[in-house]
Amino acid sequence: MTKKSVLDLYRMKDSDEKVCWITAYDAPIASLAEQAGIDMLLVGDSAGMCVHGHAGTNEMTMPIMLVHTAAVRRGAPSTFVIGDMPFLSYQVSCEEAVRNAGRFIQAGADAVKLEGGRRVTEQIRAISDAGIVAFGHIGLTPQSSGQLGGFRAQGLTAESAEAMIADAEAVEGAGAMFLLVEAVAPEVTELIRQRLSIPVYGIGAGPHTDGQLLIVSDLLGIFEAFTPKFVKRYAALAGTIKDAFAAYREDVKSGGFPGPEHVYNMPENERDQLYADLAR
Ligand code: KIV
Repeated sequence: MTKKSVLDLYRMKDSDEKVCWITAYDAPIASLAEQAGIDMLLVGDSAGMCVHGHAGTNEMTMPIMLVHTAAVRRGAPSTFVIGDMPFLSYQVSCEEAVRNAGRFIQAGADAVKLEGGRRVTEQIRAISDAGIVAFGHIGLTPQSSGQLGGFRAQGLTAESAEAMIADAEAVEGAGAMFLLVEAVAPEVTELIRQRLSIPVYGIGAGPHTDGQLLIVSDLLGIFEAFTPKFVKRYAALAGTIKDAFAAYREDVKSGGFPGPEHVYNMPENERDQLYADLAR
């Protein structure tokens, strides 16, 4: 399997082949995703909620995100990996944005994603000018969920939909090679896709996209705090995991684990020697 390049991703758009991507935060899941043929992996700052137990994403920092990125790269050496730029890693200045984007590339990412439309076009331009592939991300942008009034669908009024289309055009104009649209009405996603020439992917943005993203913990049914409307669960692993833990606990308490097949036996002569030595 050879790693997809941006050219492959553009070819997939041209031939109407949907790109299928998920988030990943660690090597084992990244490896399973690669083996299953997932096209791209996002090392999302959703790790804040899905891995680290925070209520949002803004606690994620560059060092934490780089550790996750390197782990995902080790697990999926042949998959296109996107590093998600965390809160305050690009908002302060273009210089910081470029330096931090570069750190993601050095950790093994093929591209970076940053949230925001018109307000981050200078950063997108600077990152692109540094030769780094940038993904824009508009609609529900979790890092600014405080301003949005929470994790809420976006672009549901004509006025906000028009603002979102302007954001999408600005992101493309600034040099982003891809756009992710999150929690937006399908009509608005469709209008955005019609107006842009770069691939437009969605998470909770309906079917009119060049590909779909889901958060791995949602699709596997591990994240129990809440489930957004746009999630389709493909497994219910929380129940499976809890059942396994309960069965293990029961075995330990009852003496059913470990069994004879789980122990390392001494050779018989060594054991006899040991008993004889100790009896002297
Ligand atoms: O961090 C993340 O997983 C994301 C998705 C919600 C788009 O940015």
